[in-house]
Amino acid sequence: MDKVSIAVFASGTGSNARHLIELERANALHPAHVAVLVSDQPQCQAVAFARLANIPVWAKKHKEAGGKEAFERAVVSFLQEHDVRLVVLAGYMRLVGSVLLDAYEGRIINLHPSLLPTFKGLDAIGQALDAGIQQTGVTVHYVTAGLDDGPVIAQTPVAIKPTDTKETLSARIHEAEHELLPEVVRTVCLLLKENEDK
Ligand code: GRF
Repeated sequence: MDKVSIAVFASGTGSNARHLIELERANALHPAHVAVLVSDQPQCQAVAFARLANIPVWAKKHKEAGGKEAFERAVVSFLQEHDVRLVVLAGYMRLVGSVLLDAYEGRIINLHPSLLPTFKGLDAIGQALDAGIQQTGVTVHYVTAGLDDGPVIAQTPVAIKPTDTKETLSARIHEAEHELLPEVVRTVCLLLKENEDK
């Protein structure tokens, strides 16, 4: 098989989701193919962009879907219909539950704006600024049941300047994310392809 279908999960702006979609359009994401976008926030920008780009979207709030388990069961069916082999959490603001984990164990990766294990959870950029340190960064890791807790795949450090605000630091964190995430997606998809071709 030539391409590896991936699902991108996002809950907000979706700059990382958008970047992956644009790279694929420029033939720069091989062998990954952004097959679908999944969201728990139907009105978010990530969903709007994916629809414009003609990417199949599954987007519902947990409540509308009948709770977290029902949400994940429906999402897993949608992923399977589209032959998704890797799930990429890029600004997805929900903890993954057991239904999705059981179906895609070892094939879910998450992007986090800190050098894990430091600054897990919400507002990692604010946490780094409050800590008064000189360096933070971004991490891509495999997802397990714990919050921001699975094995690290790759990290990029980002320097914190004394003059940084949340806005300026977030902008540099995003630049680093837009480099690191596609690199990891390409590599993990290559590995999946090699394993399946064996
Ligand atoms: C990123 O900083 C990512 O690390 C975090 O959420 C943010 C999403 O940004 N998990 P965007 O929606 O892709 O612009």
